[in-house]
Amino acid sequence: MKNFAHRGFSGKYPENTMLAFQKAYEVGVDGIELDVQLTKDGELVIIHDESVDRTTDGTGYVRDYTLTELRNLDASYLYIGKTEKNLIPTFREYCEWVKDKDLITNIELKTGVFEYLGIEKQVLDLLQEYHLEEKVIISSFNHFSILRMKEMAPQLKYGLLSETWFIDAGAYVKSLDVACYHPIFRNLTPEVVKELKSHNIEINTFTVNTREDVLDLYEKGIDSVIGNFPDMVREVLEREV
Ligand code: G3P
Ligand code: CA
Repeated sequence: MKNFAHRGFSGKYPENTMLAFQKAYEVGVDGIELDVQLTKDGELVIIHDESVDRTTDGTGYVRDYTLTELRNLDASYLYIGKTEKNLIPTFREYCEWVKDKDLITNIELKTGVFEYLGIEKQVLDLLQEYHLEEKVIISSFNHFSILRMKEMAPQLKYGLLSETWFIDAGAYVKSLDVACYHPIFRNLTPEVVKELKSHNIEINTFTVNTREDVLDLYEKGIDSVIGNFPDMVREVLEREV
């Protein structure tokens, strides 16, 4: 079972920062999950919420900031006094960092609230520039967004994110000719897993933060867990299975 660091090593470091990505890499993860959005001036940046309020010392929507303005904010707001200032990374900065590393990147297109029209093409352009096409999984809760990108680049690997109880999720994912399903882990009952496997769908699940859940999902034959504590996941997989 693969070990993906959710927003980097976000259980211990400021989420979606280069520090959190570096610390996840040092743990020895298989992959890193991150979230991309667009600034006011059309730059790809890595941040989870549509607004900067929760994770930075600023307020307002990401899409209302230029990149220069966003880069003045401190993305370590939740860790004040515990770390130095960390900037909101650009996606280009991440690509430059990851290009020579043996890591899979799960890029979540944060197109569920604002569509950020054109974001799919911008992500694709950077992946091509850095030759990362074979080292990524593109996911989104907005399945239209996945289909838009898949039309431009059918050779990439895609995953459909879900927090709902789909009937016949595997048949749905298969019908869109997508390789992976990324559900919330609580919905992975034996019946759901069986149906997904009957369609040969790769199952990568979030957000898995306890030893018990890691073991349960391993026993169910899940392909990857995406969690905030990749050190714990690594230890469980090395010592307990
Ligand atoms: O990609 C898995 C997970 O990150 C999806 O939910 O809200 O943490 O981005 P969220
Ligand atoms: Ca995410």
